Amino acid sequence: MWVSKLTRPVLTIFLCISTVSANPVSRLENRADLEAFIDRQSDISIKGVLANIGPDGSKAPGVPAGVVVASPSRVDPDYWYTWTRDAALTYKALIERFVAGDTTLRSKIDQYVSAQARLQGVSNPSGSPESGGLGEPKFNVDLTAFTGPWGRPQRDGPPLRATALTIYANWLIANGARSQALNTVWPVIAKDLAYTVRYWNQTGYDLWEEVNGSSFFTLAASHRALVEGAALASKLGQTCNGCAAAAPQVLCFLQSFWTGSYVDSNINTNDGRTGKDANSLISSIHTFDPLANCTDATFQPCSSRALANHKAVVDSFRSKYEINRGIAQGQAVAVGRYSEDVYFSGNPWYLTTLAAAEQLYSAIYQWQKLGSVTITAVSLPFFRDILPSVAIGTYPSSSSTYTSLLNAVKTYADGFVAVVQKYTPADGALAEQYDKGTGVPRSAVHLTWSYAAFLTAIERRDAPAPPTWGEPTANTVPRVCTAPPSCNSRITFNARVTTVVGENVFVVGSLTQLGNWSPEAAVPLSAERYTSNDPLWFAAVSLPAETSFEYKYIKKTANGQVVWESDPNRRYTSSQGCDSSATVNDSWR
Ligand code: NOJ
Ligand code: NOJ
Repeated sequence: MWVSKLTRPVLTIFLCISTVSANPVSRLENRADLEAFIDRQSDISIKGVLANIGPDGSKAPGVPAGVVVASPSRVDPDYWYTWTRDAALTYKALIERFVAGDTTLRSKIDQYVSAQARLQGVSNPSGSPESGGLGEPKFNVDLTAFTGPWGRPQRDGPPLRATALTIYANWLIANGARSQALNTVWPVIAKDLAYTVRYWNQTGYDLWEEVNGSSFFTLAASHRALVEGAALASKLGQTCNGCAAAAPQVLCFLQSFWTGSYVDSNINTNDGRTGKDANSLISSIHTFDPLANCTDATFQPCSSRALANHKAVVDSFRSKYEINRGIAQGQAVAVGRYSEDVYFSGNPWYLTTLAAAEQLYSAIYQWQKLGSVTITAVSLPFFRDILPSVAIGTYPSSSSTYTSLLNAVKTYADGFVAVVQKYTPADGALAEQYDKGTGVPRSAVHLTWSYAAFLTAIERRDAPAPPTWGEPTANTVPRVCTAPPSCNSRITFNARVTTVVGENVFVVGSLTQLGNWSPEAAVPLSAERYTSNDPLWFAAVSLPAETSFEYKYIKKTANGQVVWESDPNRRYTSSQGCDSSATVNDSWR
């Protein structure tokens, strides 16, 4: 056993911690206590969500109708903005609740639709509405553009919003409000899908706003949105250009995040991380389809891949946080974003701990629907943690192993909720994080997404399923992945830079073709036409057409030193139309 590796003094501490933190839900009175917490916290959470939405949310004074504030915290951190991702995931939870019968939410949902329609028209540092602006991660709460530096674009926003609105549109169609679906909701969805079709294969920032590359979550969300968007379009007699063609290609690309034993959440980047990241847990819960089998290709909650990944991600936090010490393998622990996280010193988060629970509740739903649990070589280690005697095989619902497995998974899932219970203050306020050493709340207070994450986890626990998004007919991976047709424009960079012999000039920026801000991958400029009167450095680069991007020039000195231009970054939008061209003229600054 691993305890034997510890030195004696530590072992004493371990034993004493282990008596207090033994499986929190195994005892009956603790179970009753958890149920009571869930009831109370569910009520607090719906109120917590609504309090952060304008115009009448008590913590969102002066915020326009249908706008979700990430958190009322205005300093350290300042979250007094509206993020497209947070808002879409929050409204997805509200819309699912509405579809399940909470009719009081209808006007709030209609307000979200109009607020988003407006926001899609706001030009911002990620671009104009036509040149990539829908990928802007956050806006001021009055719906004007936020123009400060940020990790942009983030391409998960449009597909997440499309998904939330598609669930609503489908409900409208089924409930006699087809014209509202067609005339009010569809136009917003259509823009988000057009964005997704056009940009899914380009890099961008991940959901944690730090890594520029390809993010598993963004691609998983894109796949789902394209599949259900294409179906909605045909129901409405509309066209969704490129949606049906792109969806299988996105799914094809998604396979490359699978390492064989877990999901590497960020690829096409050099982030120096393991890739074990709650990004992937949140992906599985977002793409849960109640009609799906345990499909590996779409990383369904009950799939072997998603379960192996659950173990890998959860285990990466076991020895990371002080509050997880002494908790045995197979029991729930506090879960953060990823183990290398340093934001607010790197703590567990409520929403990621809840995602660990939600994936398991969703998996239970799927096994019950299928009437069996299958354990493969890939998922065996996950199951062994919670039921050590179990072996590879398929266990039908009539077997006692099936019952033991489902009980063990349920207890494990409840354990994550119990962790949240333990670190939730008496008033039920959910911040963004809780301290890795003491468990006290940290970072943004009353985080909307934390409350929404509580609601969805408990919704899955109670088992009313959300609507299908069509996974059963969209889970076939093409044999070969093909890149989408490219539509490029040729941009000539003319830079006047006075240099000394041995120095070279490069252009580097936010597109893959411009090295994604990495000096090693910067594009070299030519000095062929350089004269002392006209110190011209130039290069013609093929870039995606009609796309906004940021860039800078750098010099590399003879001894390899990199010298950057001064701030701010330069911005440009490539010309419109495939095979178009344009020239920019800059001078070193
Ligand atoms: C603020 C972002 O919201 C957060 O996701 C990130 O971790 C920190 N900046 C640090 O980059
Ligand atoms: C930081 C988180 O990393 C990011 O995912 C979120 O969108 C913002 N905070 C706002 O809540």
